Amino acid sequence: MRKLAVAPATALVSLLLTVSAWAQDITNLGGDLTSDLPIDTALELPAPNISSEELFQLHLAGHTDFHGSFLFTKLNGKRVLGPHFNHNSCGACHVKDGRGPIRISSRPPGSSVLVKVSLRGLNPDGSPRDVPRVGEQLQNHSIDGSTRYDIRLRWRTVRGVYPDGTKYTLRRPQLSFKIPGIRSTKVVHSIRMSPPTIGMGLLEAVPAATIVAMSDPDDLDGDGISGRVSYVPNLETGQIEVGRFGWRATQPTLKQQAAAAFFHDMGLTNELFLPEGKAQEIPDEQLARVVFYSQAAGVTPARDQDHPDVVAGKALFQQINCDSCHVMTLQTGDSEVVEVANQEFHPFTDLLLHDMGPDLADERPEFSATQREWRTPPLWGLGLHPFLSSKRPGYLHDGRARTIEEAILWHGGEALSSRESFKDLSAAERFQLIRFLQSL
Ligand code: HEC
Ligand code: HEC
Repeated sequence: MRKLAVAPATALVSLLLTVSAWAQDITNLGGDLTSDLPIDTALELPAPNISSEELFQLHLAGHTDFHGSFLFTKLNGKRVLGPHFNHNSCGACHVKDGRGPIRISSRPPGSSVLVKVSLRGLNPDGSPRDVPRVGEQLQNHSIDGSTRYDIRLRWRTVRGVYPDGTKYTLRRPQLSFKIPGIRSTKVVHSIRMSPPTIGMGLLEAVPAATIVAMSDPDDLDGDGISGRVSYVPNLETGQIEVGRFGWRATQPTLKQQAAAAFFHDMGLTNELFLPEGKAQEIPDEQLARVVFYSQAAGVTPARDQDHPDVVAGKALFQQINCDSCHVMTLQTGDSEVVEVANQEFHPFTDLLLHDMGPDLADERPEFSATQREWRTPPLWGLGLHPFLSSKRPGYLHDGRARTIEEAILWHGGEALSSRESFKDLSAAERFQLIRFLQSL
């Protein structure tokens, strides 16, 4: 990955830059969108810099669209949800705008973890090949209350040990399902945990050129970390654009992400997903409200930034190159959403795809991303779990990591040397690094 700053000329300048980076105050993770409301509600309410009363009201209406259930919503007297779906509201999976519980349920009302499927290989345009009569994901719930595909998620234990002799246990998912009429060997799958939806508008407003400038597909700077841009189709413009959203950065805009979620996760047709002969179930204004809700919601501040363990952990984060991918500071450009325009903010991502090694690989490539590549997830909000949900958190694309520590221990591929450096830290230093991440 190429650093955005110009390389320093001397060791002294390098040291000063490093010290100043450690010292950089990242408390306002979301720039002017950082909220001082209580942590358990800040992500759901309008950002403090919302620019008008009208937009404030629009945001509150968007909250209802995002968190309200579509179970009983009707159009022309008919229920619109489904008939097959994964869950019945955005907020059921993105709980309080945070991550969802790791559960594939065999009972109503729904599941927050979803399974993407396709036939082997890719279509000429790079998109995965839909499974006939199924589509691109297993919609395992139905409005009549039945479930489909007999999906079972089990966990296999993996044991390891730190160089200092401390033992640890990880778990790896083992998924099974049945698609009537199709041999399971023909179908490849990918398990997806519902990620937090924090600061989405800021990520959308990072200029594509900034993301491209950080990429280093051939690792020209020889730091072992490449980073590739995910190029994906924009359904509205028909152009190939920089992907930003989803674990593989397969969606270029929040509008497309939300429209795809309505269609695939809830079975609700809309302006971007409207099969021939079907009525449009989500009016354009409702889709626009949900998008604005995600764009202009508040971001929680980092906490305890003066605590000695947090200060030390932040320095370690940079020393062992976690920030090569989890880039601490980005700038947005101009935006029609004035709230997110021209902000300096701290998401801890480069929005690029990285080869994370064979252990994290799934079976299902998507557009330019291979089975081993994942988009660097933002780390803001990592410590919010206890405030947002009482259920156990899951980290990484399939929720296999039960703790932040486990998430780090799964890193491989381009992140292998960072992971090894983490393992080589003393137990006290490992605690400090994790303490820093919990402060975000
Ligand atoms: C069944 C659970 C589920 C429902 C319902 C759901 N989502 Fe998601 N959401 C996910 C998963 C899983 C992903 C990651 C998808 C991927 O990897 O491509 C995701 C990704 C996202 C992202 C991108 C987050 C990021 O970090 O890039 C946004 C934004 C989002 N969803 C918004 C919505 C909206 C808006 C709705 C309602 C219209 C919705 N979601 C409904 C599970 C869900
Ligand atoms: C080569 C780029 C790269 C480096 C270096 C890297 N990461 Fe990551 N990190 C990723 C990617 C990509 C993922 C998502 C992998 C997945 O979901 O399978 C991830 C996931 C995570 C997660 C889980 C986030 C979530 O929401 O589930 C944490 C925590 C994390 N990294 C912390 C670290 C720390 C700490 C370091 C330094 C020891 C580090 N990372 C180094 C790319 C990187």
